[in-house]
Amino acid sequence: TVFPILLCVLLVVMQGIINREIGKPEYRCGCACVDAVRAADGSCRRTECGVQYSTQDQVATCPIPSPPRWPAVLQLPPAESRAVGTASQPLDGLPGPACWDTRSCPAAFLVTGGNRSLAQSLSGQLFPALTSPLNFSDYLHTLSKIVPGSEAPASFRQFLEPSFTPGNTLYIVQPRCRSNFSQTVSVNAGPKPLKLNVDCIQGLSLWRESASVINDELFKGYRQQRESGGGKANEFAAGYDFLSTNTDSLDISIWFNSTYNNNTGVFEMALLRVPRLVNMVSDAYIKFLRGSGAEMLLEYVKDMPKVGSELKLDLSSLLGALFFTWIIELLFPVILTYLVYEKQQKLKIMMKMHGLKAGPYWMITYTYFFALSALYMILFVTFGSLIGLGFFTTNDYSIQIVFYFIYINLQIALAFFAASFLYSVKIATGPSLRFVISKVSKLCL
Ligand SMILES: *[C@@H]1O[C@H](CO)[C@@H](O)[C@H](O)[C@H]1NC(C)=O
Ligand SMILES: *[C@@H]1O[C@H](CO)[C@@H](O)[C@H](O)[C@H]1NC(C)=O
Ligand SMILES: *[C@@H]1O[C@H](CO)[C@@H](O)[C@H](O)[C@H]1NC(C)=O
Ligand SMILES: *[C@@H]1O[C@H](CO)[C@@H](O)[C@H](O)[C@H]1NC(C)=O
Ligand SMILES: *[C@@H]1O[C@H](CO)[C@@H](O)[C@H](O)[C@H]1NC(C)=O
Repeated sequence: TVFPILLCVLLVVMQGIINREIGKPEYRCGCACVDAVRAADGSCRRTECGVQYSTQDQVATCPIPSPPRWPAVLQLPPAESRAVGTASQPLDGLPGPACWDTRSCPAAFLVTGGNRSLAQSLSGQLFPALTSPLNFSDYLHTLSKIVPGSEAPASFRQFLEPSFTPGNTLYIVQPRCRSNFSQTVSVNAGPKPLKLNVDCIQGLSLWRESASVINDELFKGYRQQRESGGGKANEFAAGYDFLSTNTDSLDISIWFNSTYNNNTGVFEMALLRVPRLVNMVSDAYIKFLRGSGAEMLLEYVKDMPKVGSELKLDLSSLLGALFFTWIIELLFPVILTYLVYEKQQKLKIMMKMHGLKAGPYWMITYTYFFALSALYMILFVTFGSLIGLGFFTTNDYSIQIVFYFIYINLQIALAFFAASFLYSVKIATGPSLRFVISKVSKLCL
């Protein structure tokens, strides 16, 4: 009986430590003193909290009534794993692996379709060339006319575009790169002005005979696939299939890499950078139909407004399944040992000889164990609720009662069943404890 109480206390203590840790200012919305004149004692007269005072870690908890607008950025494979052609795997139209060292490999797009000449003239328009030097004073408009891209993994909200954070580079996808393109500009994007590294990356659209050829090449380039063979990854930026596109209708399917959503089942999924992929081809199509004067611009993407929030981690719900099953199952060896002991010492036979029938015997035994288990559970739930474990307080008690009722009955029935096979207490405690432990270790894994 001490064990469950100990465990509950341990959970509460651990939860307290975690709460203190994630309640620290570095995980809460950032604040700053906005009143230049500080009060005499050095404290601040007016502080203001918000996105503009927050770091990447803090931003998630800030209230954001009007989310910033960000250009729709393309997801590019990292420089060291972009697709290249090698001797063992010559890929049509791609440069050799030498560009990995200079980090100048092009971003390759695979293209196929029903009408080759049409598909090629459309894919030639995917990356509009810059006509004038980049002017970042109206960066949304500027970037909507060309194709910006980033290697940085996207985040799961769109409040802060990762390619606009320090240390990342914004790439401009161009048909051909000038050697002196690389530059650092200051942009008034988002909550605070920032210095942005801008660089050029060559966009390469490569014609392939059919969709299955593209599937094959994409699959061979997969990082995991290449690693098992010892080679390097050969990643493409995207693929387009212009199906039955003609001058009357645009009909496309797009390949993109959805592994970038980080869907591990543990954390929130990241957003995928696909809107630009769709816009690139719509823009190319309208230019193809109406001439280069026509354009279809995707100016910005923007998240939904949100309220302020707090980081939360409820340990008892996270580990609940493990600990609570373990605790309830602790009664199983007790019941089993008791039953087998009676059998071993011939107590049951003796009682029979004194005139006790089998029916009343099982009835009494069952009632006794049921009362014992019920008391145990009541104590457990009461104690857990008193110290405020979320597992007990947030679930409705009526549901909990039904659940525990079914569970202890099941456990008693299982013990009755197992007892009929066992003749000695030593055998009974061994396997039944091992049963509990193996269940526990299975849950742990
Ligand atoms: C392919 O598209 C071009 C341009 O629209 C058109 O002139 C040509 O007839 C098409 N070819 C076929 C086989 O449909
Ligand atoms: C950039 O554009 C703004 C207005 O959109 C204009 O005032 C400014 O002169 C331009 N800068 C350059 C370097 O062209
Ligand atoms: C996605 O996963 C990669 C690699 O595991 C990691 O570097 C990146 O930070 C993750 N992105 C997000 C938004 O969690
Ligand atoms: C790059 O070089 C070309 C000529 O070689 C020049 O016209 C252009 O202004 C230069 N661009 C930058 C950003 O320095
Ligand atoms: C897709 O992205 C993931 C994560 O960056 C990478 O491991 C994988 O190789 C990519 N797959 C392809 C086909 O490029």
